[in-house]
Amino acid sequence: MSIRLNSSKKSPRLVYIKTFGCQMNNYDSEIMAGVLTAHGHKMTDNPSEADIILLNTCSIRDKAEQKVYSQVGRYRPYKDKNQNLIIGVGGCVGQLVGNDILKKAPLIDLVFGTSNIDKLPQFLDYINYSGERISRIDKAEEWTDKDIPISRNTTKSGWVSIMRGCNNFCAYCVVPYARGRERSRAHQDILKEIEELVRSGHSEVTLLGQNVNSYGKGKEDEISFPQLLRLANQIEGIERIRFVTSHPKDFSPELVEAMKLEKICETIHLPLQSGSDHILNRMNRGYTATQYRSKVDMARREIAGLTITTDIIVGFPGETEEDFAKTRDMVKEIGYDSMFLFKYSVRPGTAAADFDQQIDEKTKQKRLEEILNIQNQITLEKNRAYEGKVVEVMVEGPSQDKKDIMIGKTRGNKVVLFPSADGIREGDLIKIKIDKGRLYGLDGEVA
Ligand code: SAH
Ligand code: SF4
Ligand code: F3S
Repeated sequence: MSIRLNSSKKSPRLVYIKTFGCQMNNYDSEIMAGVLTAHGHKMTDNPSEADIILLNTCSIRDKAEQKVYSQVGRYRPYKDKNQNLIIGVGGCVGQLVGNDILKKAPLIDLVFGTSNIDKLPQFLDYINYSGERISRIDKAEEWTDKDIPISRNTTKSGWVSIMRGCNNFCAYCVVPYARGRERSRAHQDILKEIEELVRSGHSEVTLLGQNVNSYGKGKEDEISFPQLLRLANQIEGIERIRFVTSHPKDFSPELVEAMKLEKICETIHLPLQSGSDHILNRMNRGYTATQYRSKVDMARREIAGLTITTDIIVGFPGETEEDFAKTRDMVKEIGYDSMFLFKYSVRPGTAAADFDQQIDEKTKQKRLEEILNIQNQITLEKNRAYEGKVVEVMVEGPSQDKKDIMIGKTRGNKVVLFPSADGIREGDLIKIKIDKGRLYGLDGEVA
């Protein structure tokens, strides 16, 4: 502590964290908050009063770096006002770009990565003491989730990481570089963390990994993902268990079997990316359209009421009109409940960045709109099919703009809006009768 007493600057206290990207990043932000809180700092939702502003960044699509700089630019007035303000950039952009960020953006004091967030307090203390701007990046593989404090943003529905990194090297994707090679967490630690979630009042958990189906692979003493689900299903107090993401190539009959367990929600996110074998092959996805289709058929046969969502990339290098037509047809054929739709975006360092036959922006946009229109139609039809039905909803709380309207989710992850009523609280499981299916979800009232 002598360091702080000698410091010419006042010891930083209030921390504001802004998170971009996927659920794993949200979870990592909870860890950042956890380690900093354990070190005596406090969190704030208001960047203008913060002593430390941290950006937890995402690099999945282009302009990721520019986005960071423009976001940091918005904090300039705070820096002008408070000379002691420390601005830090971590997450996937931090990991991938490293020290260059300091050169390009004088407002930034600290760059860190995806694998050293436990050392944040030391980094901040050092900056505070020395007045230096520093960049600290460890190898992405270094990170383990072991014995790390976590300060949750959630109260009822929480996240638990079951594995880190990815070995798949899909040709378009930065994740294996930003997060390192795949490693699974010990199942005992995962189960312990779910039990802790229950103790803090949570009744839903989402298990996180880039490819959850390969959980435990390559670790002799580790169990498989379906086995992990079975153990999680036995934890008292958890009502709903979800997981993301399932890679289609590893989606197995054993997993489908485990999904029949009481608490495992009947929903699966199964990114297709493309319906053309030629493109799937160029993407290095490891499955064909036919294999994907038969896995969906199997899952639908076995699990009543299953909802399926997906990710689609249009305009991958070499995607011809014929390839695109296959994606379009597959989207119609499978009938997803919803999807995330992306235009292919060149990521330096990935294999596809060097592929020939890059597709022009106009074509990408046209293809995106075409799929979007088809999917909107399907989503609407799927949601209308719920009209007149009674569904189980977990209450999440009042809606942002209308306080007399509550928001909840079905087991299939559909958003449900309904008028609030006396005695209904966040986390409750209630029956809602659906009277209208819309694009964004379902409208209903307490049954
Ligand atoms: N691990 C998950 C996905 C992680 S990234 C999985 O394998 O399914 C989430 C989604 O972003 C991907 O499924 C893909 O559709 C999209 N994506 C990733 N890299 C992209 C890129 N370079 N351009 C456009 N979309 C991309
Ligand atoms: Fe990226 Fe593919 Fe790994 Fe998903 S499976 S994170 S898309 S490399
Ligand atoms: Fe983005 Fe990193 Fe997640 S690149 S999608 S925040 S793993």
